[in-house]
Amino acid sequence: MTAQLPGAPRVLPDFPWDALDAARERAAQHPGGVVDLSIGTPVDATPALLGEALAATGNAPGYPAALGTAALRTAAAGWLSRRLGVTVADPLAADPSVIPTVGSKELVALLPTLLGLSGGGTVLIPSVAYPTYEVGAVVAGLTIRRTDVPPPDADGVVLVWLNSPGNPHGRVMDDDELRAWVDWGRAHGVPVAADECYVTLGWDVEPRSLLHPAIAGDDHTGLLAVHSLSKQSSAAGYRGGLLSGDPALVRRVWEVRRHLGLLVPTPVQAAMTAALADDAHVDAQRDRYRSRRDRLAGAVRTAGLRIDHSEAGLYLWVTRDEDCWATIGWLAGLGVVAAPGSFYGPAGARHVRMALTATDERIDAAVERLAG
Ligand SMILES: Cc1ncc(COP(=O)(O)O)c(C=O)c1O
Repeated sequence: MTAQLPGAPRVLPDFPWDALDAARERAAQHPGGVVDLSIGTPVDATPALLGEALAATGNAPGYPAALGTAALRTAAAGWLSRRLGVTVADPLAADPSVIPTVGSKELVALLPTLLGLSGGGTVLIPSVAYPTYEVGAVVAGLTIRRTDVPPPDADGVVLVWLNSPGNPHGRVMDDDELRAWVDWGRAHGVPVAADECYVTLGWDVEPRSLLHPAIAGDDHTGLLAVHSLSKQSSAAGYRGGLLSGDPALVRRVWEVRRHLGLLVPTPVQAAMTAALADDAHVDAQRDRYRSRRDRLAGAVRTAGLRIDHSEAGLYLWVTRDEDCWATIGWLAGLGVVAAPGSFYGPAGARHVRMALTATDERIDAAVERLAG
């Protein structure tokens, strides 16, 4: 755990990436150079339509609205309906059903705070999870409990985070699992938030949104969904995300965001509007990831490793049935860097995460090395 400052009551989890330095150094000695599959940062060019929309709104002397432009909220509602089959309440109503966020990471980290949940209580997060759910709980003075199924009681629980498709393991929750959480949240009056930033990247199954009528019915009360343009539009540098769902909850979040100045810049809002109206670039990016996934997965299996879950999203969840650091060392000998599963919770300790966010040339290098 990181050191506590005097007077600072909250202890953030370690930022663990430094622990990979030795593996990185070893991998860098490979004559063909390192293949770094540890961090999921997109590498493909951002489609021109985003940059053009951004440039066209470069004259932006006034403050943007935390609410997002009407055009952006309309485009977001259209995207939710077209791509995910989700019908949000009127996005232009006094209580908005969708607002933009500065990428989704800040929203994930701040959601408990923005909902006013600070000061005690528990946030339920997946057993193996993106670390920011815990960070957000700690920042709000809350504790976490790791679980993949609704617990028998809701004692002290103030928020549930779901993540499907999941990071790091690419697991997709089926309809029954999602419905069980909706029923549980409603029965206990606990908001359920679904981080769906990989929802458009289903390979073996079609991931379902928490807000889909087959899951939520026609009523989004108590439910929120988080989406991101970072991966689907290869635009992580733009910092464009969305929060949608229960208009009363979105309103609460929006009102605090206005006070905090958590505003998406006007040119980014324009780029998001253009991106959300266009499916072609998302499909093309998806095809790139699918091809990389097929090649890398084939090589990983040929090398005798097992891939668990990974039916969607941008990662392969790989094991040699040994401690993850042994696998990290073995891969580093091949000049490949992966992320140790233990970064994502104790239950991940026998897996490593391999990201598909590398160039075709680097993926091919990894494939060749794994083939021996
Ligand atoms: C599960 C999950 N949620 C949220 C994010 C944040 O993405 P962004 O802030 O780029 O939207 C990531 C990034 O990798 C992620 O894996």
